Amino acid sequence: MKKIGVLTSGGDAPGMNAAIRAVVRAGIYRGVEVYGIYHGYKGLITGNIKKLGVSDVGDIVQRGGTILYTARCEEFKTEEGRATAIKQLKKFGIEGLVVIGGDGSFMGGVKLTQLGFPTIGIPGTIDNDIPETDFTLGFDTALNTIIDAIDKIRDTATSHERRFIIEVMGRGCGDLALWSGLADGAETIIVPEKEQNYDAIVKRLNHGIERGKKHNIIVVAEGAGSAFDVAKQIKQRTKMEDTRVTVLGHVQRGGSPTAFDRVLASRMGSKAVELLLEGTAGKMIAIQNNQIVAHDILDLLTKKHPFNEDLYQLAKELSI
Ligand code: F6P
Repeated sequence: MKKIGVLTSGGDAPGMNAAIRAVVRAGIYRGVEVYGIYHGYKGLITGNIKKLGVSDVGDIVQRGGTILYTARCEEFKTEEGRATAIKQLKKFGIEGLVVIGGDGSFMGGVKLTQLGFPTIGIPGTIDNDIPETDFTLGFDTALNTIIDAIDKIRDTATSHERRFIIEVMGRGCGDLALWSGLADGAETIIVPEKEQNYDAIVKRLNHGIERGKKHNIIVVAEGAGSAFDVAKQIKQRTKMEDTRVTVLGHVQRGGSPTAFDRVLASRMGSKAVELLLEGTAGKMIAIQNNQIVAHDILDLLTKKHPFNEDLYQLAKELSI
């Protein structure tokens, strides 16, 4: 293999730039040319492709977002779109591809693999919803952004003796809510993986108020419903009526990646190149027990990211 490509796709995530840098530099270090594909799969179809040198990826390890831009591409979901993409790859002489993105982007990787094009996926999404990896790139940074925001909200919640219901991202996955809720001592964490029993939630909240609690933090994963609806469900039935809702939104996707995400991105990017060059493709890179490993990308079709019941139980125990 003499030429490989790299693209970012789906929602951006802090650490994507560090992963691009790792792919480019690990490739050049091993003697191959590396091409950046701009605007995700869209750029693959239109041929928005440029050779990247060592200095093209200088000064980006610390930057959020993605220098390759990203997009969600409907055309790539069609057979014609994918056929055009493969033609473009061949036109540029690109023989292997690294896709950095979330589950939608990985589905693109699955399709390319099924069409016989050597592809490796790097899980880049704040949602932490990819199977077979303990963490996705960007999750740790987003988590820290959320924690910083909740800490600030807590100051005003304490001062006004109010309840705050805070909605965080994550699509169908409750990990951002679960981890931030535990790290921030939230009284209640509402996630899509668990059925919500509002009678039990209200009982717990009222119990807290009876023993002197003057404010509450409730974290809701967007996949479990809107924080405004949760507020309606709870407000009338508890003894603390002053409630505010904060939807954190896209602030969670930006910012300089944490050290954890930068190191993870560097390790995953380098591993992706190593695999492509040894002739292994159709894999997704993962971190398991702090080891960088590779799984069959087709696992995405049959496996799910597991919900961490132990953390959920621990959060409950510690928020009595
Ligand atoms: O997948 C990342 C994510 O930020 C989700 O958590 C969220 O639901 C979605 O993307 C938002 O997408 P968009 O940026 O297109 O509004």
